[in-house]
Amino acid sequence: MKYLIIATIFYCLFANAYTLYQNEISLKCNGKRFENVTLTAYYPDYNEEQKAAGYLDKKGKLLNTLQDYIDNRADYVTLSMDESLGIPYGTKVCIPELNDHFGHRIVLEVRDSSFDLSGSGYSRADICVRSEIDSYDAIVNRVVTLVFV
Ligand SMILES: *[C@@H]1O[C@H](CO)[C@@H](O)[C@H](O)[C@H]1NC(C)=O
Repeated sequence: MKYLIIATIFYCLFANAYTLYQNEISLKCNGKRFENVTLTAYYPDYNEEQKAAGYLDKKGKLLNTLQDYIDNRADYVTLSMDESLGIPYGTKVCIPELNDHFGHRIVLEVRDSSFDLSGSGYSRADICVRSEIDSYDAIVNRVVTLVFV
């Protein structure tokens, strides 16, 4: 009986450490890295004159916000980057600083661009958030690492 308890305790310790290790791995981003990228936020604009233009991405799909993703209502977060980079629509991007902040892996996809970003290359990226208020959050207004996974 005593041995069984000891074995159980060891098993639990090991399983716990393994889970932490797995979680740590999943927050890491492996791929082509771009450092010192200025992240800013934008949000769907339902008052835009051309209606849909304010809340659809460049191919006419609904913008997915960071809050949609965190609430499990989206598979990815819409990211906007310089059109002239020619990044294929839907390219997956990982931002380790966001993963660390939220404690789980945030999947972003490059699906939008704007006049404002033209010519900025890999030095800027705009993340889509729920509202104007959310766009002021420091976590989405900072220098980050962009990793193309
Ligand atoms: C990013 O910025 C840091 C601090 O200013 C600098 O040391 C580093 O060389 C920069 N990295 C790149 C790839 O420009």
